[in-house]
Amino acid sequence: MHQLDVDQLPRHVAIIMDGNGRWAKKRFLNRIVGHEEGANSVRAVVRSCRELGIPYLTLYAFSKENWQRPPSEVDALWHLLKKFLISELPELLDKGIRVCHIGDLEGIPDDVVRELLKVIEQTKHLDRLVVNLAVNYGGRQEIERAARLFAEDVRSGRYSPEELSGELFSSYLFTRGTPDPDLIIRTSGEYRVSNFLLWQLAYAELYITDVLWPDFREEEFLAALRDYQKRERRFGTYYDDQTPTQRCAAGSQQ
Ligand code: FPP
Repeated sequence: MHQLDVDQLPRHVAIIMDGNGRWAKKRFLNRIVGHEEGANSVRAVVRSCRELGIPYLTLYAFSKENWQRPPSEVDALWHLLKKFLISELPELLDKGIRVCHIGDLEGIPDDVVRELLKVIEQTKHLDRLVVNLAVNYGGRQEIERAARLFAEDVRSGRYSPEELSGELFSSYLFTRGTPDPDLIIRTSGEYRVSNFLLWQLAYAELYITDVLWPDFREEEFLAALRDYQKRERRFGTYYDDQTPTQRCAAGSQQ
């Protein structure tokens, strides 16, 4: 199927969806049209993950830095997200897709929060695919928050500082319970991680493509997965014939 080895698919794919503005500019269109077309790519990638059986997908929909955009664009992004949540709910329910949120709810307009919480609540029992929407999200802020929460637990006597391990720290992140991403995709050719999943991407494979996000549809996603399947993952170990490395089987990264 699609020249992909279905036993070697990533368990968790995370995507920095970039290039909506450039896509619109190339066509002399308003940037908002680029975001609207980007929402269609979101739908396409969610469907692909569901069809392929990839169980976790995380999408960087609105970063902490995105607040610095012109208010009209910020408003349009909120409007688009709300509209998308409303329009997609029936398909999410039908296909067993659970939506989760990572990031701070505080700051997001109330009507969008209401819609987000509604979709989270109505899909919480579903398990065919988990879609984490990173909205009002920043990787550093997530780590700061986790450190603060752990410090509070130390102060209350629940833990001693010595008990902190990577695993315990991960449980204070928004992504607790989710395996770390195996594959990070960034569209539109920028070589940056832009404050996305800074803790979680420690051993992820990076795939960067010049394709702009609104043009990133199923074929492009399959190309990323094929590229991923060619990688040899070492998880920080060195290569030697006696040391079994992992050819992109999902999970078990330490
Ligand atoms: C980057 O393009 C994209 C964003 C800032 C937002 C991502 C939003 C979407 C894909 C649409 C809606 C999302 C959902 C979940 C429905 P850019 O504006 O930075 O592009 P540029 O770098 O070319 O200007």
